[in-house]
Amino acid sequence: MAMWILQLLPLCLWVSMPTPAYGRECRLELKKADCSHMNLKTIPQDLPEDIRVLDVSHNRLVELIPQSLTRYRDLEQLDGSYNSLKLLPAALCQVVPALWRLTLRHNEVRLLQNLRNCTHLTHLDLSDNRLRLEGEPFSGTENLTWLDISRNKLTSARLGSRPQLPSLKTLLLSGNDIADLKKDDLNFLSESSSFRTLALSFLPLKKVEHGCFKPIAGLQDLVLDGCKLNPTFISNLCEELSDTSLRNLSIQNTQQVMLTNSTFKGLGKTNLTILDLSNNKLARIRDGSFQWFPMLEYLSLEQNIIKQLTKGTFLGLKSLRKLNLQMALVKSHTSPLPVIDDFSFQPLVKLEYLNMERTAFREIPKNIFDGLLCLRELNMGWSSTGIKMISNTTFASLKGSLFLQTLNLTGMGIKSLGPGAFSSLGNLKVLVLSHNFIKQQLMGEEFQGLNSIREIHLSFNQQMITLLSTSFINIPTLRILMLGHALTSNLDMEPSPFRPLANLTVLDLSNNNIANIGHGLLDGLHHLSVLKMQHNNLARVWKNANPGGPVLFFRDAQNLTLLQLDYNGFDEIPTSAFRSLSQLIYLSLIGNLLNFLHNSIFDDLKSLRFLWLQKNLLTSVRRETFGVPLSNLSELFMDHNPFDCTCESILWFYNWLNSTNTSVPDRAKSYICNTPSMYFNRSVLDFNPESCKDLVPFEVLFVITTTLVLCLMVVAFLLHFQGWRIKFYWNIVVNLTLDINDSPYKRLAECRYEYKAYIVHAQEDKLWVERSLLPLEDKEFKFYLEDRDALAGSSTLESIVGNMRMSRKIIFVVTEALLNDPWCRQFKVHHALHQVIEENRDSLVLIFLEDVADYRLTQSLMLRKGMLKRRCIVQWPLQKERIPAFRQELQLALASSNRVN
Ligand SMILES: *[C@@H]1O[C@H](CO)[C@@H](O)[C@H](O)[C@H]1NC(C)=O
Ligand SMILES: *[C@@H]1O[C@H](CO)[C@@H](O)[C@H](O)[C@H]1NC(C)=O
Ligand SMILES: *[C@@H]1O[C@H](CO)[C@@H](O)[C@H](O)[C@H]1NC(C)=O
Ligand SMILES: *[C@@H]1O[C@H](CO)[C@@H](O)[C@H](O)[C@H]1NC(C)=O
Ligand SMILES: *[C@@H]1O[C@H](CO)[C@@H](O)[C@H](O)[C@H]1NC(C)=O
Ligand SMILES: *[C@@H]1O[C@H](CO)[C@@H](O)[C@H](O)[C@H]1NC(C)=O
Ligand SMILES: *[C@@H]1O[C@H](CO)[C@@H](O)[C@H](O)[C@H]1NC(C)=O
Ligand SMILES: *[C@@H]1O[C@H](CO)[C@@H](O)[C@H](O)[C@H]1NC(C)=O
Repeated sequence: MAMWILQLLPLCLWVSMPTPAYGRECRLELKKADCSHMNLKTIPQDLPEDIRVLDVSHNRLVELIPQSLTRYRDLEQLDGSYNSLKLLPAALCQVVPALWRLTLRHNEVRLLQNLRNCTHLTHLDLSDNRLRLEGEPFSGTENLTWLDISRNKLTSARLGSRPQLPSLKTLLLSGNDIADLKKDDLNFLSESSSFRTLALSFLPLKKVEHGCFKPIAGLQDLVLDGCKLNPTFISNLCEELSDTSLRNLSIQNTQQVMLTNSTFKGLGKTNLTILDLSNNKLARIRDGSFQWFPMLEYLSLEQNIIKQLTKGTFLGLKSLRKLNLQMALVKSHTSPLPVIDDFSFQPLVKLEYLNMERTAFREIPKNIFDGLLCLRELNMGWSSTGIKMISNTTFASLKGSLFLQTLNLTGMGIKSLGPGAFSSLGNLKVLVLSHNFIKQQLMGEEFQGLNSIREIHLSFNQQMITLLSTSFINIPTLRILMLGHALTSNLDMEPSPFRPLANLTVLDLSNNNIANIGHGLLDGLHHLSVLKMQHNNLARVWKNANPGGPVLFFRDAQNLTLLQLDYNGFDEIPTSAFRSLSQLIYLSLIGNLLNFLHNSIFDDLKSLRFLWLQKNLLTSVRRETFGVPLSNLSELFMDHNPFDCTCESILWFYNWLNSTNTSVPDRAKSYICNTPSMYFNRSVLDFNPESCKDLVPFEVLFVITTTLVLCLMVVAFLLHFQGWRIKFYWNIVVNLTLDINDSPYKRLAECRYEYKAYIVHAQEDKLWVERSLLPLEDKEFKFYLEDRDALAGSSTLESIVGNMRMSRKIIFVVTEALLNDPWCRQFKVHHALHQVIEENRDSLVLIFLEDVADYRLTQSLMLRKGMLKRRCIVQWPLQKERIPAFRQELQLALASSNRVN
């Protein structure tokens, strides 16, 4: 108990606090003043005099003093709902003569003084008050057309004793305590020739006296929702309504359990067109119950518990165009599944729309839909009928429905489509099969006979559908194909399954984990406009390293206007991926791993208006990539990237952001720098462009001084550097002349050499050889490298001898390791020297990777530097920038003649 009080305490405190004023001033807009929720006790006197609309609802007004409105003589609409008004003053309309709408819902008005001067008042809302009907409160409001006095605890509908309200069209009396309608209760409306609509919802109505509707014979719409209408009472009521012009009867939630062939008998003389029976507990509808409604066009039986539909249920509804059976037949624990008999819909010869969403029935009988000659749309979404497979007989009863355009079979638990499943539906335009469990290879014959089909929806089918090249071969007329979350992951077949769909404009392949596609995926789809491929696994197909190169699959789809490629793991975009997509308006690449984008990849997207690149790894936004696409954009979404806020990465984008008219939602908060550390976690807009400007004069100064210094240094160090530099250029010149002297005769002589050079190196230097020498190989000459080129099986000695013979030069890669390698020393060197001497060739080239003393050379290799031509001794430079010069020297050494001069 104590706990309970404690818990209640905060609530009491909250209730006892004064209601806060929500705003200090009335909100003005055009000629409208909104002074609601302001804790007002009087009407504010400081508003513009010419306002037309004044809202003072949700305040604390207790009185509407006419003088307080004299200022606002042009007032046309006044809303004083949710106050504590007790009285409606007689003089109101004298001070605001133009008032036509007065809304006073939720007040405490008891007495209505004569509203005689309200000549313009047409709409009066007094619902939720405490009206007492004394005198003739409405007699002066001659132009009133709409009157709401719902929920006023009125016990009678008699608003006056003599005819009045001549212009009234609509009267709302719902939620009062009216239990019976007496014969002359509605007499006050007897001269209201335009009266049409009467709402009597939620009344404890028990009795209607004979002739009570006579004064309002022009009645067209009657709403009785929420009244308890027992079977005798409802037939009685219908009798009373028989002489009216009733068109529209709403009896929702009136506890109807059963309809018989006499329930609506009284309405037989009317021309009822709309009947709403939803939210009842209808379990049985006897044959012929609706026979009285030959003019009925719309019937709703939504949310009932009907057990059976038979041939006779809809008898006589020969004008019905729309039948709403949503949840009209349902599964229950206690009773068996409802049944729909063959030919149940046969009387509905004019029916165009049949909605059977979320119904449950035992099976789809063979002739269920027979006779629906005008049917245009059938929706069976989420209904449970027990079918697992659609065969060519399932919908055969729709054969006669020549106008059927849409068949919606969403969420019906279908597992497979048989051959010719829809072959009786030659004129069908839209077929919806989403949210099923279809698991099969689509061979093509499933869609046989759908000769006019425009749209097929197969999305959300558990990713179990496998496509073949023939899948859509029978439906070339298709325009829209939805396959999101439906397919297995491989689409790499030739020709593409979509090849037959020449008129396709919309293709959804999203959420399929597709990893394999071919170049020809979209071939022939010249009209494709919308392509959705988000949430797949296509990163590999756009990699440069993909065997065969990146897959550029848009080659025929040049009319694309919308392209969605989000969440595919893309980390690169091939340079020509978006070539000639000049119609593209929407491009979305959210949630990929893009960090570097090539220059100009977007340059062909001349029509681009919307670009989404959020949640990638973009660091820079450079003019070279984004200049063209951002120039004409309407909206850009590029937030949540790790921007690098340095001059070269972001300056251009910063300037663009600050000057563009393009909408960039959240530009201040969501475009955040990641690097450098001084801008970490700060907005890109905080970037200081001045830091880049400072660089310009500095750079000029820098260039001038360095030039001066350099000149001096060049003069000073020329001698020191000339050694290698001049040699380098000299070598190039020599090389060129050698090339010129490259006569065919000489080439012939060289032909016997298969290799450019035989490389002798220590095992430790293998890596260096691979990195630095092998790149020099060309088509004509290769190096001989033991590890690589020795034929397996040939004895090592023999191969060394043979291959040295076939090599034009012999290169020693001289390092300490080589000098210490016994195998090199003893045999290879020996043989090489032997050959040099024997053939009288000058074919040795020494590359020194490190400094080696001459005596070590003599000792180990029996060689002296002086034995060789100078150009055949090459030194591996320590400085990186000298490597090109080294290469040049080496090439020259390799090209030098073998003859001893
Ligand atoms: C208001 O009604 C009174 C009679 O009740 C009439 O004398 C007066 O002229 C009317 N005023 C206007 C402005 O119509
Ligand atoms: C009803 O309104 C019209 C103009 O809309 C006006 O001419 C007429 O006088 C009004 N009728 C009465 C009885 O005030
Ligand atoms: C109403 O049904 C009963 C049988 O239930 C039948 O005898 C009677 O003829 C039917 N009346 C009409 C008007 O169809
Ligand atoms: C019903 O419609 C017919 C023809 O459309 C018409 O002659 C008849 O007067 C209408 N009946 C009622 C009560 O409106
Ligand atoms: C098919 O029906 C489902 C539910 O029954 C609905 O949500 C969907 O919009 C309908 N589809 C079409 C194309 O009419
Ligand atoms: C349905 O298919 C079977 C063979 O699978 C065929 O014999 C039969 O004629 C087909 N029926 C229709 C209505 O196409
Ligand atoms: C494609 O569309 C064009 C123009 O609407 C039409 O003439 C043509 O017949 C269509 N092709 C197919 C195979 O439906
Ligand atoms: C784009 O579509 C139009 C018709 O909609 C067509 O004439 C044109 O050939 C298509 N363009 C390309 C490049 O296929």
